[in-house]
Amino acid sequence: MPKLIVVDRSGDETAIDAREGVTVMEAIRDSGFDELLALCGGCCSCATCHVFVDEGWAETTGAPGEDENDLLDSSDHRGAHSRLSCQIALTAALDGLRVTIAPED
Ligand code: FES
Repeated sequence: MPKLIVVDRSGDETAIDAREGVTVMEAIRDSGFDELLALCGGCCSCATCHVFVDEGWAETTGAPGEDENDLLDSSDHRGAHSRLSCQIALTAALDGLRVTIAPED
């Protein structure tokens, strides 16, 4: 069961035990974080699931896909390790992944 560490907008850090195969967005949403709106439900069309992946994890999570990249470009808060959390599937390789919920656009 991969552990996911989530930093919310106030800087509080929470560790979540997530099911393997769910997305980072689903794990965060299902743990009751209301900051992550995920309005499109995970079909890569809203960008309200924007997170910053910790630098040490950026290589493992990989680069955004083309559509994801275009959506991230619409955010005023895009950073070097920005990802849409609905596009990252949790696997055993991501056990301990740490992400920060991006500010609201
Ligand atoms: S939930 Fe809409 S883009 Fe991720």
